[in-house]
Amino acid sequence: MTLGNTLPEIGAGPELLAGLPAGFRWGVATSSYQIEGAATEDGRTPSIWDTYCRVPGMVHNGDNGDVACDHYHRMPEDVQLIKSLEVDTYRFSVAWPRIQPHGGGPVNPKGIGFYDRLVDELLAGGIDPWLTLYHWDLPQELEDAGGWPARDTAYRFADYAMLVFDALHDRVRHWTTLNEPWCSAMLGYHQGRQAPGRQDFGAAMHAVHHLLLGHGLATQRMRAADPDADFCITLNMSQHEPATDSLADREAARREDGLAVRIYLDPLVHGRYPADVVEDLAARNVVLPVQDGDLEIISTPIDTLGVNYYFTSLTSGVAEDGSTVDSDGNPVSREVRLGRRVTEMDWEIVPEGFTALLTRLARDYPGLPMVITENGSAWADEPDEQGFVKDNDRTEYFADHIAAVSAAVRAGADVRGYFAWSLMDNLEWSYGYAKRFGLVHVDFETQVRTPKASAYWYRDTIRRARAAH
Ligand code: NOJ
Repeated sequence: MTLGNTLPEIGAGPELLAGLPAGFRWGVATSSYQIEGAATEDGRTPSIWDTYCRVPGMVHNGDNGDVACDHYHRMPEDVQLIKSLEVDTYRFSVAWPRIQPHGGGPVNPKGIGFYDRLVDELLAGGIDPWLTLYHWDLPQELEDAGGWPARDTAYRFADYAMLVFDALHDRVRHWTTLNEPWCSAMLGYHQGRQAPGRQDFGAAMHAVHHLLLGHGLATQRMRAADPDADFCITLNMSQHEPATDSLADREAARREDGLAVRIYLDPLVHGRYPADVVEDLAARNVVLPVQDGDLEIISTPIDTLGVNYYFTSLTSGVAEDGSTVDSDGNPVSREVRLGRRVTEMDWEIVPEGFTALLTRLARDYPGLPMVITENGSAWADEPDEQGFVKDNDRTEYFADHIAAVSAAVRAGADVRGYFAWSLMDNLEWSYGYAKRFGLVHVDFETQVRTPKASAYWYRDTIRRARAAH
């Protein structure tokens, strides 16, 4: 692929890639509900997202994933697209309702058949599959039975994981259990901004524990079946710094960090929940539903921590009106902006926050190699008259954030790969198709895919990285 001489000279400096080790992985990422479409084909039943998209007002423009990028029907063509980017890794997710349409029972052969063909197609193209088992599409029947706040869902998840593992581990070596459990729990069960759209803080905290338990049960069983495979969990994280040095702000930042970072990583790595988080929860009359042996299961060793990073903001413990408790009597936690340029998502661009996060993770959770399983930005890009999409803002974002990863590596963080979000424009959850994160533009009327300038830049950057070793 060529884009004439329109390639931007962004990130051309030597510091972009300095320090990245030989064998550093380069990839692109997607997820099942965001790209597949074919929502009722081959036995697939509704997930919580099919249901949520149909609740009026929940998803921008009333969009849903019925067709999405029609990837289910265009998979071989899309694998060629991935290949043309010269990445070595493709991160995708498996739709649970295709594998177990009723959330339990035997594998649906047609459902697993799709991923079986995808994996073969990737391997034939020299691309390593990096499989995520859960990227938010819980079978609706399991939500009806209680969803993630119910303990049984953790066991169901482990059963589902084993069905996929048994079918594919002969060819797939990289297994991520969960994508961004913070979003599943907090946006799904507390804030109601994602499926299933519940608003119950206690239920969200039960979901946290059962997501982690499901991760641990699945990892234990998969590891016992094939100890040489690589096991990972992906968390979305950023630095939670206080807006000022006041005690209220420092406390608010500590609480945020507790609920977004340490409530996951402490049990995963150290086998215990952080004492201050447990105390904060008790003050809200919430007790994590931990049973004997759970923490041993949750801390089953993993090989890689997947890090998704998009932005950073500051935290204040004081509301605009000066109060330190909200209308429910809970301590205030208010987001304070740094005043930076924002993307189409209204997220501030803070690459140095990425370096700070990675060096902090390396310090507090040493010995755990990291891979950037997502990083990227949305912009309102459209093809020009010649059909080119000159998305220099996206390229700049990638350059600044890859440079931030390199800086973290030079500072000692063990980061072994970087996957751009996303391969192509897709369904951005509650934002519908309006927010475009792709390296490749998708015309959702015609399904025509057009690599943007950032795609050529990314390919050339990968070439440079490889040539340096
Ligand atoms: C995180 C999620 O994993 C992904 O599904 C989403 O599209 C991106 N962030 C951008 O918001």
